[in-house]
Amino acid sequence: MKDILNAPFMVEMIRTTTNMYAHGWDERNGGNISLLLDDAEVEDYLDTSAVLRRIPTGFKAPELEGKYFFVTGTGKYFKNVQYAPDVNLGIVRIADEGGTAELLWGFADGGKFTSEFPAHMMSHVARLKADPKNRVVMHCHPANLLAMTYVHTLDEREFTRTLWQMCTECVVVFPEGVSVLPWMLCGTNEIGEATAEKMLVSRLTVWSQHGIYGAGKDLDETFGLIETAEKAAEIYMKIAHLPRLNTITDEQLHITAEYFGVRVREGYLNI
Ligand code: 13P
Ligand code: ZN
Repeated sequence: MKDILNAPFMVEMIRTTTNMYAHGWDERNGGNISLLLDDAEVEDYLDTSAVLRRIPTGFKAPELEGKYFFVTGTGKYFKNVQYAPDVNLGIVRIADEGGTAELLWGFADGGKFTSEFPAHMMSHVARLKADPKNRVVMHCHPANLLAMTYVHTLDEREFTRTLWQMCTECVVVFPEGVSVLPWMLCGTNEIGEATAEKMLVSRLTVWSQHGIYGAGKDLDETFGLIETAEKAAEIYMKIAHLPRLNTITDEQLHITAEYFGVRVREGYLNI
């Protein structure tokens, strides 16, 4: 059995949580990540017959039965992950049609997975339908995206168009746009179901007055997706109160998307 602390997924998870904290996206225990692991990847590092604890989840997701997830712990600080990964992170296998998470490693102080586990697992189900290569669901609290939800309409088309207009690369990075949920109580199955529904059509879902959800094939790509949207929101918050003399036009968004071979969300451009 290889040392799990040297596993590529462990190294990448520690680097990502540390970097997210450094970006100011994860104050205190803010934010959470879940990473779908391949069975073979896990079996190299763990005895998968040794279940440490069975933790009820409070929801059903039969599509995930038997799947392994590497997930951040509830109440844990991203800044501390690098110093005590086995306390702040855990590896679980989904059992009982989603109703139970079997702990195989981590949460060493008796802790458990993030309170946003329903939103994560339901989003995995949705994203795997949209893209079988999806592995990551990531939630955090980037200040500018959050700020934008106080001063910008929450209409998804308008919100997306504003972000696309803030940096030329945005339409290339998230051509399907950004979904937006109104304020909802976090940690519930309801916000999980609402997020998953949005995740069927876009890899980014803003939680108004709270934060954002991103999804992707790996941690780097998902981080980059959120990073790009947050940069656009930062520019918006710098210019929103100033007269706008120039912008990226719909025609320019269109030719950019054509040039880079991406398909822009139907009906989102006025051309
Ligand atoms: P957890 O500590 O339970 O992951 O919650 C953090 C958070 O961001 C809630 O939305
Ligand atoms: Zn949050």
